[in-house]
Amino acid sequence: MDDRTAAARGIDPTQPHPARRYNYWLGGKDNFAADRASGDELQRHFPKVRDGAVANRALLQRATRFLAEEAGIRQFLDIGTGLPTADNTHEVAQRHAPASRIVYVDNDPLVMVHARALLNSSPEGRTAYIEADLNEPESILAHPVLHETLDLKQPVGLMLIAVLHFIHGNGAAQPIVGKLLDALPSGSFLVATHATSDFGTPEQQALYQQLIAQGRSDVWTRPREEFAALFDGLELIDPGVVPASEWRPEPDAVIPARSDINIWTAVGRKP
Ligand SMILES: C[S@@+](CC[C@H](N)C(=O)[O-])C[C@H]1O[C@@H](n2cnc3c(N)ncnc32)[C@H](O)[C@@H]1O
Repeated sequence: MDDRTAAARGIDPTQPHPARRYNYWLGGKDNFAADRASGDELQRHFPKVRDGAVANRALLQRATRFLAEEAGIRQFLDIGTGLPTADNTHEVAQRHAPASRIVYVDNDPLVMVHARALLNSSPEGRTAYIEADLNEPESILAHPVLHETLDLKQPVGLMLIAVLHFIHGNGAAQPIVGKLLDALPSGSFLVATHATSDFGTPEQQALYQQLIAQGRSDVWTRPREEFAALFDGLELIDPGVVPASEWRPEPDAVIPARSDINIWTAVGRKP
């Protein structure tokens, strides 16, 4: 997409955006120079940042498979969709249960353009898209498309994968997650991943705080304790709160160093 077409669709190519930067780290082509510059700057300070992106994406697929195959979930609310790539949530879920219904939510207009074009449901199931901001969970919960697609009296898999760290502020993510979970019935699941500085050296942690303060990173890392608190009141699924690459890894997986991944993960069930 050239810059003029992008502008016409409400996309500002001069500002880096998380979906496009993540797409760049994953080796995709749907990104602009500003996204690549931002991605390169973060990678200069944290050389393994691409490994974290790859581990996060693999976790999304394993956790979706767990929900569809083991937990029997047939409805998914995936907030922070990202640009479509291989094995998106609906593809993994519908491979096991073709009638699965998925609502994707993102606040990036470019993600919406691609999602509508590429995230096509199986004939038995359904996919739908909402352009909305996770900072306003009420607008997601009130959206007619959500209610046309999902039955909120039946369990839902709430996927908040690598998106909560764009909610800035100490304690700011918890009320948002709480409002979303309140709207879902017993038997629903929360799957979340979140960037953390917990595994960095004190020097890396100080550098990271500086990048945030100077607006050179938009990823608001959280410590384990604050991430785990998002699951208060839920039954944590084994193995609990672990780095993304350690949540039910494939049997032949080589587990990378925690300081190369820097992403907390957990899955919880609403009792
Ligand atoms: C790093 S990508 C993660 C994509 C996908 N969930 C995954 O893990 O592979 C983060 C996504 O969250 C979206 N996002 C960031 N802040 C958001 C917000 N406040 N509301 C909705 N979506 C947001 C971005 O546009 C991007 O698509």
